[in-house]
Amino acid sequence: MKPLGVVTRGTTNPNRLRRVDNWIAETCGDALRAAADPLVVDLGYGATPVTAVELRARLAAGVRADVRVVGLEIDPVRVAAAQPAADPPGLTFARGGFELAGLRPALVRAFNVLRQYDEGEVADAWHTVTDRLAPGGLLVEGTCDELGRLGSWVLLDADGPRTLTLAAKLTTLTSPAELAERLPKALIHRNVPGERIHDLIRALDDAWRAAAGYAPFGPRHRWLETVRAVRAAGWPVLDRPRRWRQGELTVPWPAITPR
Ligand SMILES: C[S@@+](CC[C@H](N)C(=O)[O-])C[C@H]1O[C@@H](n2cnc3c(N)ncnc32)[C@H](O)[C@@H]1O
Repeated sequence: MKPLGVVTRGTTNPNRLRRVDNWIAETCGDALRAAADPLVVDLGYGATPVTAVELRARLAAGVRADVRVVGLEIDPVRVAAAQPAADPPGLTFARGGFELAGLRPALVRAFNVLRQYDEGEVADAWHTVTDRLAPGGLLVEGTCDELGRLGSWVLLDADGPRTLTLAAKLTTLTSPAELAERLPKALIHRNVPGERIHDLIRALDDAWRAAAGYAPFGPRHRWLETVRAVRAAGWPVLDRPRRWRQGELTVPWPAITPR
């Protein structure tokens, strides 16, 4: 089977995906616990397998000790380079692309993979992956900056995209507008007037400015107030304040679907 996709830059970093991993453990944990086979694919792990190693450790500690993570890379050189980090059966590495090398995982994390594709290729890539998930399976596809301080991701199932999450390290966040540079490929070119994602980022930015009085109590308080204000203005914010405190905001996909 020829792997579907193209080799792109392999940039990665230790702990870069900590935010999304913690969110996955909490939000997708029940699905993974219920899965007949706790198989997780880390698609496109990059030049070193460090984020796949971390994903396995986080899920094994926080969700299921018997989780099996398979790191798939389209670049055979990176597959060979990752082998010393393998720890079968819990962590293995193989060559594969959007076709998932014939696997039927309960969960796929694909981070900083679609960023280097064209916007027009996203829908096909999403479909190719979600068609191959186990029943009830989930795909988390997103983007972050090099150190993982700013990021965003889409949660999808077999029916398509369900939610968008924006996440920031609050102690280094100057303004929510910074998140616009780290939107998933499906949205990054849509931060323009007339698009819902643009409206959301503007609403967050306005609320953040209006909440400046909370800054002396710390950025967490300011972000909580920002999320509350955006919610009060009618944005269908999901999750509990416990997640908001992490610097996150999740909305249903229809709230920001590109027009
Ligand atoms: C920027 S690195 C991301 C590494 C890691 N996921 C992270 O976020 O730090 C993107 C990697 O995805 C790989 N890649 C691109 N398209 C792919 C595909 N269709 N299937 C598997 N890997 C792919 C590239 O070869 C590259 O190594």
